[in-house]
Amino acid sequence: MKRLSDFSWERYSALGEADKAECLSRPDGMPFHTIFAGQFGRAQLDRLCDAATQIRTIAKTRAGTEFLRGLLFHKRAMIYFTQPSSRTFLSFLSACQILGISTGEVRDASVSSEFKGESREDSIRTFSSYFDLIVMRTQEKGLAERMAWSLSQSKRPVPIVNAGSGKDQHPTQALLDIYTLRRSFERRGGLEGRTVVYVGDLARGRTVRSLARLLTNYAGIRHVFVAPPQLAIGDDVLAMVRAAGQEAVTSTDMAAWLPEADAVYMTRIQDEWDESAGESARIDTSRFKIGTDEMRRMRPGAILMHPLPRRDEIAPEVDSDPRAMYWRQVRNGMWIRTALIASTFDCLSRVGEYWRDNLQ
Ligand code: NCD
Repeated sequence: MKRLSDFSWERYSALGEADKAECLSRPDGMPFHTIFAGQFGRAQLDRLCDAATQIRTIAKTRAGTEFLRGLLFHKRAMIYFTQPSSRTFLSFLSACQILGISTGEVRDASVSSEFKGESREDSIRTFSSYFDLIVMRTQEKGLAERMAWSLSQSKRPVPIVNAGSGKDQHPTQALLDIYTLRRSFERRGGLEGRTVVYVGDLARGRTVRSLARLLTNYAGIRHVFVAPPQLAIGDDVLAMVRAAGQEAVTSTDMAAWLPEADAVYMTRIQDEWDESAGESARIDTSRFKIGTDEMRRMRPGAILMHPLPRRDEIAPEVDSDPRAMYWRQVRNGMWIRTALIASTFDCLSRVGEYWRDNLQ
């Protein structure tokens, strides 16, 4: 088995996705560091989704809540978010609380020693002295991965969970999206062969990149990427989907694709990445919005997703439509992140035993 600590950064960086995933794994094949979506194959996804469902069932009773809280009572986590977040931050905080993990947090680098000129690397190395897990969201692409490697060379290689890195990866959002899709279709023949229509800022949204990668684990998915030309999906994502033997379609016509979709995945315009002032505002996004008329064009069994926060790409009137899944996504996120953290610390078999002994 390949071990991260045996590699120099240069040699590790040159590895392909599967070898990198092996370096980041625990001996049981589940991630130790959670850095990118490609670390999750079908077995890992099934294991986590099943565990998330067991955990949410266990949490319904007082005794179950106590059991969960005892699992990682002896661990501490640092939630280091130097990029804006409310949902993902609270979701990880709640997941830690469910498992009894105590937390510390930095949400603003200007109040940490980075303000005094300390490098991110040194800050994170410092956290690793106090904490047993680091959950991080940063503006910088690849920082979580570099930190995972850097800690692997130290005496305390604590696990890192990437909670959103630059424009490239958001693996735990993709996990909750998969969990939501799986729950939506599990009694209706599963996820295989479904058409997923992604809409919005596909050039800069990291959630779509990560979700498209996870969906390649399910046979016969058709991926349809719908965006204004200036915000079209990257060629790397199209190539990744096609290399997995799946169909990738690009379009600028959302209305035409709505009746074909099993799931519509809306995203907001990511104007925080604008290179010039008002750049995004000049793009015509009027045909990339969902209101009650667009919902009528969607199939009765299709679902509407959004990673949130939304702006005006989904009208509030749509919230009461039973096909709107975005509020459920938020809740699913807390449970799948709880499962991921429990897995990181090798607690899934104890969860499974409790579930079998008490709830099956
Ligand atoms: C997303 C993100 O931060 O990438 N939000 C989230 O984590 N739920 C999507 C977004 O900000 O548009």
